[in-house]
Amino acid sequence: MARLGKHFGEYARLDPVTQADILHFLEINAAGTGSSRIGRRVMKGMNAKDAPLRITETRWFVREHDDMARSTWSRKSVGSAANCAACHHQAEQARFDEHAIRIPK
Ligand code: HEC
Repeated sequence: MARLGKHFGEYARLDPVTQADILHFLEINAAGTGSSRIGRRVMKGMNAKDAPLRITETRWFVREHDDMARSTWSRKSVGSAANCAACHHQAEQARFDEHAIRIPK
């Protein structure tokens, strides 16, 4: 969060209020020290030291998406698993349930 100018190779700088908001979310949901329900579900059984950097590398994410063929992730219309909104078309409204999924061709 301190180096959003170079975030996985992207420029992702935010205004200070938004940045503080997201940092707070990350702190309460972190592996090991996190205290929230989401954090406990996604980061279950994980120590801070071996927590993956990407949500797409968590056991939770892999399990939620294990019905999908590997080739789906690399479709041009998807790009990578990080492109949540390619399939979860209401991702920006934090809607990820099955009624808001459309896998692009
Ligand atoms: C290639 C399409 C695709 C991409 C990209 C994708 N997902 Fe999914 N996601 C799915 C499908 C399909 C399911 C499974 C729905 C089911 O089994 O009911 C799913 C399930 C989920 C669920 C569980 C929903 C529920 O109600 O049980 C969550 C949360 C979720 N995805 C979050 C994400 C996040 C966060 C990202 C990006 C980091 C992401 N997904 C990227 C297709 C995708």
